[in-house]
Amino acid sequence: MSLRLGDIAPNFKAQTTAGEIDFYEYLGTGWGVLFSHPADYTPVCTTELGKTALLQGEFEKRNVKVLALSVDGLDKHKGWINDINETQHVNVSFPIIADEDKSIAEAYGMIHPNASETFTVRSLFIIGPDKKVKLMITYPASTGRNFFEVLRVIDSLQLTSNFSVATPADWKEGEDVIVVPAVSTEDAIKKFPKGVKIVKPYLRYTPQPNK
Ligand code: BEZ
Repeated sequence: MSLRLGDIAPNFKAQTTAGEIDFYEYLGTGWGVLFSHPADYTPVCTTELGKTALLQGEFEKRNVKVLALSVDGLDKHKGWINDINETQHVNVSFPIIADEDKSIAEAYGMIHPNASETFTVRSLFIIGPDKKVKLMITYPASTGRNFFEVLRVIDSLQLTSNFSVATPADWKEGEDVIVVPAVSTEDAIKKFPKGVKIVKPYLRYTPQPNK
């Protein structure tokens, strides 16, 4: 059975470009992003890991640790990092997991045999401090992911977890958010002193609470 939202993200020990890692220990009490790519020394993957390195500060600000994964070995990862740094003008410092026996890829359902028998697809998991899976996305090998969207989802998830609000379609940092259905309008008015705009009894907006 593959992983689903709300499931506990499986723990693992892994060889990585930053040494041996116990996943849960590495995440500590913070958030995590674990993402797979098909193979080292490939063009789209090079840009994805470069963009992640460029956004490293944004992930850190949000208390998120990032880990990449492919089924290539450590030596290959280390050589490729030089190319990523050179071509994308970055310094990759997050760990890249060498999952040569595919045990982590199998546990997370990152191999989709009808796409490729051998390589991981572009899977990405956001994992909360409770070690539960909060988001899963899967992209084909030919499409690089949007890492600004990953940050946007993390912002939304952290708002939900801290303030009981949800975010509407295409929400961007600073825009109004939605009062979750579990909070009554009476409680919302007390809880959100910046005001509650009631469009329908089930559709209530409030300014972003942490702005
Ligand atoms: C790439 O990263 O560019 C790539 C990898 C596998 C298939 C197609 C593209």
